[in-house]
Amino acid sequence: MKSNKLYYVILLSSTVLWFAASATASEPSATTVRIKAGLFEPYTDSNGNLWQPEKGFEGGATIDRDPYLAIEGAKDPNLFLSEHYAMDSFSCKIPNGKYIAKLYFAETFEGIYGPGERVFSFNVQGHEFKDFDIWEKAGGANRAYIETVPVEVTNGEFRITFTTQIENPAINAIEITPQTAADTATVRIKAGMFEPYTDSNGNLWQPEKGFEGGSTIDRDPSIVIEGAKDPNLFLSEHYAMDSFSCKIPNGKYIAKLYFVETYEGIYGPGERVFSYNVQGHEFKDFDIWEKAGGPNRAYIETVPVEVTNGEFRIDFTFNIENPAINAIEIIPQAAAGQSVPALKDVFKDYFLIGGAFNRRLVMGRDPNAAAIAEKHFSTATAENDMKWQLIHPEPNQYNWEPADSFVEFAEKNKIVVIGHTLVWHAQTPNWVFRGTSPTTSPNAATETADANTPRFGRRGRGFRGPYANREELLQRMRGHIHTVVGHYKGRVKGWDVVNEALDENGTLRSRSLWLQIIGEGSEDKQYDFIENAFRWAHEADPNAELYYNDYNLDTSKAKCDGAVAIVKYLKSKGLRIDGVGIQLHGGLTYPSVEGLEYAITTLAATGVKVMITELDIRTRTRGYRGADISQVNRQSTNDQNAAAAETQKKLAEKYAEIFSILLKHKKDVSRVTFWGVYDATSWIGGSPLLFDRNYQPKQAFDAVVNVVQADK
Ligand code: XIL
Repeated sequence: MKSNKLYYVILLSSTVLWFAASATASEPSATTVRIKAGLFEPYTDSNGNLWQPEKGFEGGATIDRDPYLAIEGAKDPNLFLSEHYAMDSFSCKIPNGKYIAKLYFAETFEGIYGPGERVFSFNVQGHEFKDFDIWEKAGGANRAYIETVPVEVTNGEFRITFTTQIENPAINAIEITPQTAADTATVRIKAGMFEPYTDSNGNLWQPEKGFEGGSTIDRDPSIVIEGAKDPNLFLSEHYAMDSFSCKIPNGKYIAKLYFVETYEGIYGPGERVFSYNVQGHEFKDFDIWEKAGGPNRAYIETVPVEVTNGEFRIDFTFNIENPAINAIEIIPQAAAGQSVPALKDVFKDYFLIGGAFNRRLVMGRDPNAAAIAEKHFSTATAENDMKWQLIHPEPNQYNWEPADSFVEFAEKNKIVVIGHTLVWHAQTPNWVFRGTSPTTSPNAATETADANTPRFGRRGRGFRGPYANREELLQRMRGHIHTVVGHYKGRVKGWDVVNEALDENGTLRSRSLWLQIIGEGSEDKQYDFIENAFRWAHEADPNAELYYNDYNLDTSKAKCDGAVAIVKYLKSKGLRIDGVGIQLHGGLTYPSVEGLEYAITTLAATGVKVMITELDIRTRTRGYRGADISQVNRQSTNDQNAAAAETQKKLAEKYAEIFSILLKHKKDVSRVTFWGVYDATSWIGGSPLLFDRNYQPKQAFDAVVNVVQADK
């Protein structure tokens, strides 16, 4: 069919405008109600959701079906293998508010041979479904069909009434999910579709509306759409329109525009070219084929916009062939990351999952990052604010405010706090290593240290003596640890006591002033600074867990063995050590499965927990690989290819591989922390995290969630 070759617009309907449902939050007490008809004990589905046994029906009876019956299209066939039939009604008490009701049906009765043999009507909170025929809706027997109905409850009761017509009404399960304020405020329009559609995340898409001009078309439902989580969003479109508009409250939004080239009359790039303007953002000579990299491939354009006159608008301009669009999603910025399952729920049976929070997030200056953190994370690390340089910048000056804000933010959101870090060569002020009088020099430490002239932190400059002596430095370390750990006593679950004390070959980091000054160049004293740090941290908070943390443990066996030696040494001295943090600053091609498994298993074999403490995957493929902070700079963080579809696909694959290893070793892995919350907050640039620069979950997010689903 060549109907979208039309250059002249068929006016299908006059301008359609509508008012978005007002964004009223459901009452806080509202939770999801799940009733499994015909089952008399609770049932847990594959997502870990609990279904209550049968209740709330008036009249009728229940029946069990053959448990081996295969139900097509059902993620949880068990939901369809028993039913309540011949009832007059279903009702239950729930708080007033807006909900999405999902009604589960399957025709499993052997006495029904085709459509028209069981027909009934039902009414869900005022929404009438007349002459409902399960066989017809599901497309046959033993096939799942879920009817999704947005409803509002105003009298404390949710009610379905059934009317018998031919044979009996029957239903398998009922799910009533409260709509959050964020859900209600998001507008989702499925172009070219004329009934509501529920996507794989359970989000409801409204049927086609808001277009001026043009026409709609359905594509062959068997077309395979590459790169689409919900291919159905791409199998119908509106084309040749002049504009799209809808009324929404003023504010900031992320608009997502869904495109795919599915027309058989287009053979390559340059054959459909149009321009469009989204709330002032101009997209000139837009070519779906070129953007998506071919036909039948999903392409989603994400545009941050601001609405100031109560209307969201896209104007389309013809160029070559017709403009076309498949779906439009307008997400209030406050709803960042809200429409996907929460990572902390997805991983609740495995390990804590979290992120490094920066100061902007915890001080309320990045509310969308905070929204992601609150929804998804069960643990957090301060990206910088507990490091010596920031929390203890001068000998007698502690700067508690930023770190306190971090801890308060975490506590308010029931997020487990990790302290990072007490003893490290970087981000430590020079005064810590400076001698109080010139007479402390020369000594052995000075010579070694001087020769290396280390740099502290990214912008820090080294200095040339005089250096503190062993006793001076030990006393400073003791004061710092006692004060900082003591300040947060009982509020921090565990501390990275010593950070990055190893060289790549597994011996202690020779350039470290901690080693040089406290170790005094003697093998007998080399572990002294580590040993004392752990001892004093334990004194200051006997209940806190204590960790050693480092990078490249997953890529260098020698370095990993060095960490094992540290654990063994501390244990031999009777000191507490609970875990080793594998930072895991990875890349698209590393660590290898073998390297990561070696690290997890050899570390766990020493009897400590293993945690992934700083997870990110560098998308830049050239240049510096490691995590030495003095090597990470503006140049090394520049990545032109970060956003490319190919890069994001590789990123998703690497994340899936890493998480499948972490799940395999779940008994040893207690925590996984991303180093940042969304791409714009990453210290290595590019696109290394699960949420993009517009706060939207990426392909890598879905990949990670899918690993868990496959594991169940
Ligand atoms: C990084 C922070 O992300 C940056 O903001 C800062 O400029 C340098 O430090 N290993 C660690 C982390 O243990 O503390 C480092 O964090 C990254 C490498």
